[in-house]
Amino acid sequence: MGSTEEHSHLEHGSQSAADANAVSCADLTEPASTGPVRTFDLTAAAASLELNNGKERKAWTFNGTTPGPELRVREGDRVVVNLLNKDIEKGVTIHWHGVVLPCSQDGVPGVTQDAVWPGERFTYEFIARHPGTYWYHSHQQSSEQAEKGLIGRLIVEPKEETFHYDRDYAVTLQKLNDKDVLTNGLSGGLQLDAKPGETIRLRLINAYNLVQWMGIAGTDFQVISIDGQDLNEPDKLRGEWIPIGGGQRYDVLFTMPNQGQVQVYSKKVSGWKITLGEGQAPKKLDNDAPVFDFTDYGAPKADGISPDMKFDRTYDLVLGPVNINGKSGHHIPPIMVKEGEWIKVRFEHQLGSEHPMHLHGHLFKVLTKNGKPLTGSPIYADSILLFKGDVYEIAFQANNPGLWMEHCHNLGHAAAGMTMMVNYE
Ligand code: C2O
Ligand code: CU
Repeated sequence: MGSTEEHSHLEHGSQSAADANAVSCADLTEPASTGPVRTFDLTAAAASLELNNGKERKAWTFNGTTPGPELRVREGDRVVVNLLNKDIEKGVTIHWHGVVLPCSQDGVPGVTQDAVWPGERFTYEFIARHPGTYWYHSHQQSSEQAEKGLIGRLIVEPKEETFHYDRDYAVTLQKLNDKDVLTNGLSGGLQLDAKPGETIRLRLINAYNLVQWMGIAGTDFQVISIDGQDLNEPDKLRGEWIPIGGGQRYDVLFTMPNQGQVQVYSKKVSGWKITLGEGQAPKKLDNDAPVFDFTDYGAPKADGISPDMKFDRTYDLVLGPVNINGKSGHHIPPIMVKEGEWIKVRFEHQLGSEHPMHLHGHLFKVLTKNGKPLTGSPIYADSILLFKGDVYEIAFQANNPGLWMEHCHNLGHAAAGMTMMVNYE
């Protein structure tokens, strides 16, 4: 294993809770910091929205829209979010999906905080340590609340850019009430400004439960980040489908052609279409074009974390249609960890539709797929998408004490019991 510095990508960088047993999650808060403070107010409220296609829809909103406002901050900022629940009877929380933060700010009702009831407030406070593309959503009965609209984007801009771009767009793919197909709240697709020759960073956020195969037509592109974490020396791609699991984010980078548009769209859902630039539309991708594979993409980079390093504990999780190791919900024994330990988790997907397995509070590294070590860029992520038959091993360091969830981000699966805990001893 390498030095602490080499592991910095997976580091939380703060807590000194030597004995997590002595501390409750509520006491694990963000320590004082000197960086800029960015304050936002988010009010959760029921609303009747008029969509841009003229249809009237009931929704649960942040600040009157779904998705709620895009929160943009810079790496190192202290983010303060004042949540007010105006009238969501079932209570609300905000989970900062993919953000490594102290336990008390993770927004899981009944675990890290109480639900915020109508008329009540809660203030979230955390340092945006890792630049990248994130999102937020209520974690109170999340399958219902995310679907009804309690979601939004959180973008942490880097202090120093790894990739250069002229424009930076973030787009949420959403199905409001499991019906209306929306991109950034709009039905019928999204048109984004872009001029010939400009370089575009497009951050795609799948806020829907099912995997979306996204195609990019009209230009070469690179996948520059997965779940907000940059890839090392990404190769050029052309014509591959990108599989984005529920909750996952993929950032792509491309240069606008000298003439015509670039189109980004879902293989299955025609409404999730993003058009950039003017002029002629490009030819669509073949349905059977190859699927992007991150296991040998980009350049390797040593970080001291490898499949054959010594792990303190190893867990095997076998995924069924809506269960883990044949059990469901609180019947699934937690992953137990001690601060500082290195943990390996092996996921094996035996039965059912795809599972985007999501870990709270930590970034992990993907070690192997179907028994083979990754040979390209290291992949750090907060979720791993498994199709039936897939076996993945991941590694993380237990460096963020508290109580954390590990669950499928097909939120229907999570509600049906594909939910377990990572607990610090
Ligand atoms: Cu977006 Cu518990 O997850
Ligand atoms: Cu699932």
